[in-house]
Amino acid sequence: MNGEEIPPIRVPSVPIHGLNPAEGFLAKRARFRRIAARFGVALPTRGYIAGKLASDPAYAAVLAAVRDTTAPIHDVGCGLGLLAHFLRDAGCDLPIHGTDFDAAKITRARAAATRGGLRDVTFAVGDLAHETPAADTIVLLDVLHYLEFPDQHRLLTTLAARARAGGRVLIRVTLRDASWRFRLTVAQESWTRLSGWIPSRSHFNFPTREQLLAPFAAAGCPCDLSPLWGRTPFNSYWLAARQAE
Ligand SMILES: C[S@@+](CC[C@H](N)C(=O)[O-])C[C@H]1O[C@@H](n2cnc3c(N)ncnc32)[C@H](O)[C@@H]1O
Repeated sequence: MNGEEIPPIRVPSVPIHGLNPAEGFLAKRARFRRIAARFGVALPTRGYIAGKLASDPAYAAVLAAVRDTTAPIHDVGCGLGLLAHFLRDAGCDLPIHGTDFDAAKITRARAAATRGGLRDVTFAVGDLAHETPAADTIVLLDVLHYLEFPDQHRLLTTLAARARAGGRVLIRVTLRDASWRFRLTVAQESWTRLSGWIPSRSHFNFPTREQLLAPFAAAGCPCDLSPLWGRTPFNSYWLAARQAE
């Protein structure tokens, strides 16, 4: 952000059906099956992608958060780049750059974006442990806990400074607490890791609420933190940080 002016508000030119509460789960799922077909993966994985796009509340939360901006988005730990497909399908045409340290996922993300004709969407291999995200809107969905705690703290401190300077930081994170939701999230993560879907070099480092919020408090940057459970059983929270204008 570097202190430049906050971009003007832009109204999307096509309807944002990603936010249409009247659209049922099955209708959404059918729409997202078309997107899943772009990924050249086996049928069960396609079903997983369609289901995730239709039901994961994080993508719609990002869409809602960026409606009033023209700022480019950096999707950090983008995986297959599902967020880009969701946003384009919903009529959001902001530039999107996705990075992930898994080169195989980036190759798939690029191929799927090309098949889907997604414009102004780029992907690159990048390791969050060594690189600092750079964009006015920085999105991290389910990525933070893969970093060691010192790396998390360094990253959150950088992000808080960005938000303080007028950037926008959007994070979906599992919080470490005593809830059954947290225990279930850990079980699900263990399976994901055993399956090899997520290559990992560390343990799960789920932050506590205090660990997550401390860097923002230290920077004097206001942020909202609320549960983002949707229909999932997981202990997901949504953090949105941006200095008020
Ligand atoms: C649970 S997936 C989430 C994918 C995507 N954000 C989404 O919600 O659709 C977590 C992703 O973070 C990536 N990741 C984990 N550690 C990373 C790191 N240090 N740098 C970049 N990406 C990382 C993994 O490769 C994986 O694709």
